[in-house]
Amino acid sequence: MKTLTIEEANELLAAGEVVAIPTETVYGLAADARSDAAVRKIFTAKGRPADNPLIVHIGDIGQVDELVTGVTDKARLLMTHFWPGPLTVILPSTNRVSNLVTAGLTTLGLRMPSHETASELLRTSGIPLAAPSANLSGKPSPTSAAHVRHDMTGRIAGVVDGGVCNVGLESTVIDMTSDMPVILRPGGVSQAQIEAVIGSVDVAEGSAEKPRSPGMKYTHYSPDAQVYLVDGSDLYFERMIDKYQHNGLKVGVLCGDLHIAKYPIGVVTKGIGNQGRHLYAALRAFDAQGVEVVLCEFFEDAAVMNRLLKASEERVLREVED
Ligand code: TXA
Ligand code: MG
Repeated sequence: MKTLTIEEANELLAAGEVVAIPTETVYGLAADARSDAAVRKIFTAKGRPADNPLIVHIGDIGQVDELVTGVTDKARLLMTHFWPGPLTVILPSTNRVSNLVTAGLTTLGLRMPSHETASELLRTSGIPLAAPSANLSGKPSPTSAAHVRHDMTGRIAGVVDGGVCNVGLESTVIDMTSDMPVILRPGGVSQAQIEAVIGSVDVAEGSAEKPRSPGMKYTHYSPDAQVYLVDGSDLYFERMIDKYQHNGLKVGVLCGDLHIAKYPIGVVTKGIGNQGRHLYAALRAFDAQGVEVVLCEFFEDAAVMNRLLKASEERVLREVED
């Protein structure tokens, strides 16, 4: 896949092509949000269902009123506090972007990324860019250009290499269309950070605060391996490792950085910090090493837990106390 300069990416975007761009959260598959043909190419490259809306990226706060309306004081506060940065704000759309972007919804998700390359690209082109994460649908999001190449070679025009993403998890998505704001997806900005600026917000079913909501079937962020969360003592965790190894399966463990030494030799152990910057790289590395079962510790961070609940389809191995 071609590595693009910002100028080359801008030319391709102006010509209606799809290119992968770095952001501080994850790499995005970008195209001109105003063009049906360009946006259609995103859905094709990713294999994304047409009913899942895309978010739009801007480089200048002056583009907000062109794209959304009904911007409340609280929404404005969020933008001034957290932009540029990992927060996506949902507001009523002015319908200036392709209907394919919003998947028929009347609302639009907007975000101004802080990654220097993304920011320069957006400011110099002036094009509002629709961009989902640049992974194949259902796979872990890419946090390096190498991840993008793995998933997208032959599917898109090229990638702008901006190094490894700093945040490593997608933006927080917050719906600002009702009186009580609702966090739809936990991410780079925490609930506490948001509440410090605009007061109470709700958290939607299916995010980490309400992990056992019924009927939520997730297939996102999944490596090829079967992922399980393990809830129990150290001894119980070891028993689970033994169980899968006895069944002849290659076992991986995803744990806190400081716990790596706790796990036996013979399992592929990946340590990540509580913030999740290295989560997706770890999930992809398990696949690359042929791991068949991944056993995960619990993490404090809501965004990390949300992604792990999705990756595991909420399969939790629980120690029963007797
Ligand atoms: O950090 C990010 O947000 C990355 C980078 C590339 O900016 N993008 C990203 O896009 O994660 P994507 O498409 O993978 O996730 C966007 C999420 C989806 O869950 C989508 O359903 C939701 O935002 N979304 C988009 N527009 C929406 C809308 N109008 N109402 C409700 N949810 C919306
Ligand atoms: Mg995604």
